Amino acid sequence: MSNKNTGGSRAQWASSLGFILAAAGSAVGLGNIWKFPGRAYEGGGGLFILIYIAIVILIGSTAMIAELTVGRATQKNAVGAFRQLAPRWKWVGGLGVFTGYVILTYYTQVGGWVLQYIAGYLTSPGTIFADPKGYFLGNVLGADRFPLGGAILFPFLFIACVVLVITKGVEGGIERFNKVAMPALFLLLLVLLGRAVTLPGAGEGLRYLLTIDLKALNGSTLLAALGQAFYSLSLGMGIMCTYGSYVKKTEDLGKNTAMICTLDTLVALIAAFIIIPAVFATGVEPGKGASFAFVSLAGVFEQMPLGAFFGVLFYTLLFFAALTSAISLLEGTVAYLTEEKGLSRTRATVLSAVGMFLIGVVYTLSQAHYNIRGIWLDGASGLTFPVFGDFLEFLTDRLLIPVGALAYCIFVGWVWGPHRGVAEIEREGVRFPFAKPWGLLVKYVVPAAIFIILFAGMVMGLALS
Ligand code: PHE
Repeated sequence: MSNKNTGGSRAQWASSLGFILAAAGSAVGLGNIWKFPGRAYEGGGGLFILIYIAIVILIGSTAMIAELTVGRATQKNAVGAFRQLAPRWKWVGGLGVFTGYVILTYYTQVGGWVLQYIAGYLTSPGTIFADPKGYFLGNVLGADRFPLGGAILFPFLFIACVVLVITKGVEGGIERFNKVAMPALFLLLLVLLGRAVTLPGAGEGLRYLLTIDLKALNGSTLLAALGQAFYSLSLGMGIMCTYGSYVKKTEDLGKNTAMICTLDTLVALIAAFIIIPAVFATGVEPGKGASFAFVSLAGVFEQMPLGAFFGVLFYTLLFFAALTSAISLLEGTVAYLTEEKGLSRTRATVLSAVGMFLIGVVYTLSQAHYNIRGIWLDGASGLTFPVFGDFLEFLTDRLLIPVGALAYCIFVGWVWGPHRGVAEIEREGVRFPFAKPWGLLVKYVVPAAIFIILFAGMVMGLALS
């Protein structure tokens, strides 16, 4: 932490790049690589991508500025920020901490699966290549045995990594870590992209991603894209509020927002343009979203020269991405527990880690239970809701996160006032050229859009299931 030159007791990012990389590190994660390609596939390819980009530009960036300005203006975590500005809104901060924690329970499990795949490709790529689906269901999820690796050992290892970085503090841990991990991640993605799109047969996948099929347009798709955008940009739960509180007053929050949104969306798009063409090229049945980044890709690596090597590379990249996101998620909880409840940083971190581990195990076990019944990869969509794991994801992505983001925008638009947000951005001579449109967006357009999409998505989603 660097408190030296600030005069206060609060940590700050040492450099502008440090903040951008940390925020992008939070944004870029399993959401981009594990979730996005699957969502794009299910949402009709090109159409979903188009909607997604529009949502990021209009809604995502608006909400991100709202969170960052509240955080930097108050210099507090999300709950503390609301206590200071409008105590009646404290629940929004609390909701965000809760949502982030729920996400962490399964995020750390999937992070563990990623670690297991690094180990798998290092030690026995032949086993994965021989039966990719069987490896995922058996070795990782434990369809026919207790998943000691996928539910216990590897998630534990993943959580241990997160705890290690978190307890070292803002600059010493997260910031330094991100400076190396983010550029490395981006480079690795470009290498894989080059490989995937040149696979024979990749064209069909590319066409799928570039064709806009209006038939896929419905409330469910819109809500999926909205939830995915917020999830991917780490919005709706005060994470960006907390991160904003560490940003120097001289930083241009508008410009930083544009950079973070661009980077995050680029990574998601690249991931989709790696995974989907590759899946088409190899003829590996995509199945449900979660299998994309694990099952489907095995068929790709198998058909590549140095396949096992590329496997290790890919999952290492995914591990870095997941780690930096999980760190930011836990940072929200830890900032809350230390600043609001007076726990020491180490105690807060370890206590949260234990809880999330215990709940997380059930997530992986619930997936296995699903598999034993033999319906997981067969697309029995009507049965997804009662399953614990899918329920967790539905709860966070399609309900809690959009509601949280909606609350932040209504708060900034109607209670705190967009002029205060603009003033916070323009404090030290920074000019915010989008002050007017942003004010209109945060006050009217975005709350209305989120509300409508949430409503349409819920009604259609329930009608479909
Ligand atoms: N944005 C991260 C991802 O895409 C996940 C995340 C969500 C991180 C919310 C922090 C807060 O993987």
